[in-house]
Amino acid sequence: MIHAHITAWIVALILFFVALSLNKSGKIKGAKIVQMILRVFYLVIIGTGIMLFPHYYSDLTKWYILKVIGGLWVIGTFDMILSRVARNRRTSAFWIQFIVAFALVLYLGFAVLPQSFLTP
Ligand code: HEM
Repeated sequence: MIHAHITAWIVALILFFVALSLNKSGKIKGAKIVQMILRVFYLVIIGTGIMLFPHYYSDLTKWYILKVIGGLWVIGTFDMILSRVARNRRTSAFWIQFIVAFALVLYLGFAVLPQSFLTP
């Protein structure tokens, strides 16, 4: 499941940049389609994330909760940036949030929380 989760957010990241560049080159329709596919991947990220969430309470539970909030925050910034780019509005505040949330989630996922794609 961890592999599915990682694959899902890597694909989402790629689709996000594809949608951005399509928007920049004026291919609005293409960008809209990619954004629709991206939204399906949001559901895959959330679904696999929920499945990885432990069913018992532990000292780590608070970090898991922060991880979920961080993950949802990243997804929120993806969608905000894309919809604001499409409407030619400023995105810098959301880019800062994206970087902060992404760094937080990578740190929690790889360094704090125990499950790893390295363990079978
Ligand atoms: C784009 C958003 C997200 C990114 C970039 C992301 C990234 C990661 C990373 C890097 C890991 C660790 C993988 C490893 O150690 O091999 C991970 C694990 C995990 N993620 Fe996400 N994630 C995102 C969204 C979510 C969401 C929305 C949820 C919850 C609904 C979630 C729940 C989890 C859980 C429970 C784990 C297992 C942590 C552990 O026990 O080690 N993630 N994620």
